[in-house]
Amino acid sequence: MKRKTRNVYIYVNIGLAALVPFGLICLARHERTTTPRWAIIQDMDKQPYYKPQRPSKLFADGRAMRPHIPGTLAQQDFIFVNQAEVRVHPKTWAKGHVVLASKKVYDSVLYGQKLVHGQGQWLTHIPIPLTKRFVERGRTEFNIFCEPCHGYNGRGNGPVNRWDQRLRKEGSPEAGTWVPPSNLLGPGVAYLSDGLIYNVIANGVGTMASYKDQIPVVDRWAIVSYVRALEKSQKVVPVAKLPYPIRTRLKSLTVKLNAKGKKKKKS
Ligand code: HEC
Repeated sequence: MKRKTRNVYIYVNIGLAALVPFGLICLARHERTTTPRWAIIQDMDKQPYYKPQRPSKLFADGRAMRPHIPGTLAQQDFIFVNQAEVRVHPKTWAKGHVVLASKKVYDSVLYGQKLVHGQGQWLTHIPIPLTKRFVERGRTEFNIFCEPCHGYNGRGNGPVNRWDQRLRKEGSPEAGTWVPPSNLLGPGVAYLSDGLIYNVIANGVGTMASYKDQIPVVDRWAIVSYVRALEKSQKVVPVAKLPYPIRTRLKSLTVKLNAKGKKKKKS
């Protein structure tokens, strides 16, 4: 009897000891540490790199960050162009083609233009199939890149514009020459074709800078789709689609408004 209970103790102890490694693993998974992981095989865990905007003696101009080489396409853009094309032509993807199928697709996706009788014309549609995910991607990117000026609702009153208005109110000399961002829900932008809005993002317009380097090709189209979604949600109708009498009345209205604006400026 005594021997039996001793055996039980031994088994229980062995059992408990066997749980210790699992306990340690659980602990390790829950602990947080700022020291790097302990790597037995180093692979590429540790390698020298430059932080953004740091100098480097390797290059003649002393910059670690390399500018684009003229006449080349950033790899990022290239991949995105291909993905866009792949979605347009799923069959070419199946065949393993990653090169752009034709100059037409290239022009429409990359420049927002198509050739009509040898001349470039702005696309009137987004050359990538629209999905909910795509438009949502557009919203994310819009809220990052466009919202500061155009505002979440696109009406042109983002924080940068509000800041300018505050400076103006205070009569600060820093108020300077800020041009208010366009109202993206006005008839003006509703009238722009999709290709032209794409072009505004890629190359800028007036005082608005280009976002070519920050926003890759497909994301630019995603933003265009979101601008359209914003317009739809606010029921903006392109001027060209309004009934004729309203259109003419609108025209006379805008002329009057412009005349008023001009008079005010002069006085
Ligand atoms: C730094 C501020 C700023 C940001 C950020 C900005 N814009 Fe603009 N945008 C402007 C200004 C200012 C104008 C008016 C330019 C002018 O008339 O000179 C404008 C005009 C426009 C127009 C009207 C063009 C036309 O021909 O009427 C569109 C469309 C537009 N922006 C889209 C966008 C989109 C999309 C983004 C995000 C990728 C964006 N903007 C980001 C300042 C900005």
